[in-house]
Amino acid sequence: LVVKLNLSLVHSLASLTAYWLVTRPRPMRPPCDLQAQSVAVNGDPSCRRSALLKDDSLLDFYYDDTKTAYDMFQRGLRIAGNGPCLGFRKPGQPYEWISYTEVAERAQVLGSGLLAKGCQPNPQQFVGIFAQNRPEWIISELACYTYSMALVPLYETLGLEAMVHILHLAEISVVICDREEKAASLLENKEKGVTPKLSCLVLFNDFSDAFVERAKNCEVEVLKLEQLMVSSVEVLDPYNPPQPQDLAVVCFTSGTTGTGSFVIQQEDVSISYLPLAHMFERMIQVSMFCHGARVGFYQGDISLLMDDIKTLKPTFFPVVPRLLNRIYDKILGSVTSPLRRALLHYAVRRKQAELSSGVVRNNSLWDKLVFNRIQASLGGNLRFALTASAPISPTVLSFLRATLGCLIFEGYGQTECTAGCTFSMPGDWSAGHVGAPLPCAMVKLVDIPDMNYYAKNGDGEICIRGPSVFRGYLRDPEKTSEALDSDGWLHSGDVDIIFWSPESEQMCVYLCQNGTLRIIDRKKHIFKLSQGEYIAPEKIENVYMRCVPVLQVFVHGDSLQSYLIGIVVPDPEVFVDWVKERGFVGSYEELCQNPKAVLEDMKAEGKSAGLKSFEQVKDLHLHPETFSVANGLLTPTLKSRRADIRRVFQEQISSMYSKTAI
Ligand SMILES: *[C@@H]1O[C@H](CO)[C@@H](O)[C@H](O)[C@H]1NC(C)=O
Ligand SMILES: *[C@@H]1O[C@H](CO)[C@@H](O)[C@H](O)[C@H]1NC(C)=O
Repeated sequence: LVVKLNLSLVHSLASLTAYWLVTRPRPMRPPCDLQAQSVAVNGDPSCRRSALLKDDSLLDFYYDDTKTAYDMFQRGLRIAGNGPCLGFRKPGQPYEWISYTEVAERAQVLGSGLLAKGCQPNPQQFVGIFAQNRPEWIISELACYTYSMALVPLYETLGLEAMVHILHLAEISVVICDREEKAASLLENKEKGVTPKLSCLVLFNDFSDAFVERAKNCEVEVLKLEQLMVSSVEVLDPYNPPQPQDLAVVCFTSGTTGTGSFVIQQEDVSISYLPLAHMFERMIQVSMFCHGARVGFYQGDISLLMDDIKTLKPTFFPVVPRLLNRIYDKILGSVTSPLRRALLHYAVRRKQAELSSGVVRNNSLWDKLVFNRIQASLGGNLRFALTASAPISPTVLSFLRATLGCLIFEGYGQTECTAGCTFSMPGDWSAGHVGAPLPCAMVKLVDIPDMNYYAKNGDGEICIRGPSVFRGYLRDPEKTSEALDSDGWLHSGDVDIIFWSPESEQMCVYLCQNGTLRIIDRKKHIFKLSQGEYIAPEKIENVYMRCVPVLQVFVHGDSLQSYLIGIVVPDPEVFVDWVKERGFVGSYEELCQNPKAVLEDMKAEGKSAGLKSFEQVKDLHLHPETFSVANGLLTPTLKSRRADIRRVFQEQISSMYSKTAI
């Protein structure tokens, strides 16, 4: 028995040693000194470029033979040929794949069909697309690029008014839609006479005869995608492929960040579920195609996304903080026993220690013992993820880097610079910043005196220059010249962009010692919640001010929270009586202890004023003392001093968030 025990001990030791040798951590060598990730341009420390560049000339093209979105697909086609390109699945089924060759052929046939319907093969021709993510979306896009036409993505949350404005501005005659309901909403505008140019709707799905009849009555032709494809008498060669200076896409939205193509390989698979109308997703897709990699589409229902991911087994996961927060909550929620929880936290700390020395891996003992199931729930093939659109909490980011064992990059950018501006440097797995400028972008800080931000202190508004900066707003030279100064710097924050995009991106940033940037805030107090929804707090406050018991109101939220809360000063003149009618009695101060009735009244007011549910406050603190100039909470012009109110009520704010945590 003793011999046997010893033998098995030797055996175990040997296999442990072998295991360690095979899986010992190897740190990734970063491409530059992580303590100097960006470099001052022309001796000006507040103007920075990537440390990866040799000199101040920015990177225009990643590959010399690839200068347009059309070229990018052609490059992937050369690499992958009959290899898989676009994947889709029916409920409960595995993924089916359309090859690169097939996508290119279908795009050419579809493009010829569009020309047969009178579209012109030049970048002044705008073609609308109004559909959820699916292979036909990408085929339609490529059809446009194949004949140098420009794509105009439409999406539901734009709202009716904006949609009409876009169709009108871009003189769109053909819109490609997925379903009859979407096409019907466009038809309604034509019937009202507000989009007279609209003459052809192309649908992916089947539609009713009644719809065709209705369209005919207002001189709109309705076709199924396949019909349009056979309608082209001959398939034309792209005799006029787009040039680098040609317009490719008009985005009526603001999205965020870009992708560094340095990490994508032909074997990579990405999951497509973020809005294709946003620059973020557009950039991810073209980067995938450029490398002959493949994209699988979700079934169109976000509640099935995790099942789609498990089936698709992506290697690349483009993601937004909201989803990562949900994954984080789920992991923590799934370990209930104290012992398992302690083990999880211990394992996370061990992996985090490796992270800080540059090691990211999924084959440590902790991965086998503790994180195996978590990694399997995302398909088990994840190599890297990219988070953007809102800052992610450093706690969540570093927890997930440890548990998922894959590279998670964070980026910052905006639509006006084709999504990408800054990006985490490979090898820098620290959190709390958005990386250094990409090699295609130069950034500079500009003072914002009224917020006390000065470039010489390392903070200010971020301005961006480089080949990825946009050409301008469609048919709006005035707004364009406000956004782009004569030296080519993009100051999008100074512009109230376009009326349907109620946001100002004037982004205040802090330049860290090591050359990375940290986002501080958006000017004009507009902010995003963690899901990426934009909040204009003053607009919401103006709605709540209408409530009888409300004298003053301050709406608070930030990009690490998923909902809003409020601080309300009840109107001393009416509050006591107003509450009495609802069955509560007490002094003004006592009644301030119970915000329930006021909260309900505000929600009702908000609803009738058309606030979206994420624009409503979820909890309230009633404060018995009026905000005034004297107590420092109002400006001389009686506007809220937002930063001061936030500071004074810091305690109440955090207690509301911890109390209502869902
Ligand atoms: C671990 O990472 C490698 C590459 O980085 C990947 O191929 C593999 O699928 C990953 N395994 C799991 C379980 O995530
Ligand atoms: C860079 O600086 C930021 C801000 O001080 C910090 O959070 C981050 O950890 C630093 N990164 C590295 C690699 O030192």
